[in-house]
Amino acid sequence: MIIQPAVQPVWDYDLIADRLRGAGWVYLPLGVESGLALDLLQDLHRQPEDQWRQAGIGRQQDHHTNELIRRDATCWLTGKTDAQQRYLAATEALRVELNRRLLLGLFDYECHYARYDSGAFYRKHLDAFRGRSNRVLTTVTYLNPDWNSSNGGEIVLYDHDDTELAKLQPSLGAIVIFLSEEFPHEVLTANRSRFSITGWFRRNNSTADWVDPAR
Ligand code: OGA
Ligand code: MN
Repeated sequence: MIIQPAVQPVWDYDLIADRLRGAGWVYLPLGVESGLALDLLQDLHRQPEDQWRQAGIGRQQDHHTNELIRRDATCWLTGKTDAQQRYLAATEALRVELNRRLLLGLFDYECHYARYDSGAFYRKHLDAFRGRSNRVLTTVTYLNPDWNSSNGGEIVLYDHDDTELAKLQPSLGAIVIFLSEEFPHEVLTANRSRFSITGWFRRNNSTADWVDPAR
């Protein structure tokens, strides 16, 4: 018997585009092959502590409110390691393929690692407000081996009427992609450390007298 090596899942761009055109969101349980997901997890753990920003730490008045809303820490990907470059190459290919199919005019992609310590959450929010942001598509890639339902930490997607659409586990290699302006979402309290990469494909909002910065 010939044992085939595990085949790296290739993104089905047509399927992703169809789902985004229809429902506006898509969940890919095998979005990133586990080798890359584990390399990214290792890379995340290697980011020096001074590169992380704790939500809730910042300007005084915002501090309290912010802590009630979110308790994760974030660290931007810059492409300075091999794992980050492989991930950013994949998202760049996705950007080009989605532009071909959906004419979204996606211009670039920015993303950060996120770390939720046990007990952390992110209350219901929108990543972008209609007409007020250049964030078009949100992606969240999960880096948690052996996640199960007792660990909590699901992402819950809602529609604008607050109807729950989906509750998804942050399992290793899974990716959720959704239209940033259309889906309020929250992260339920995680009962163990939870790691992910949140990213946004953006439209270029540059005008003659205002150049949209890269970040
Ligand atoms: C975010 C976010 C969801 C998740 O970072 O804006 O909503 O599942 N993340 O980590
Ligand atoms: Mn969000």
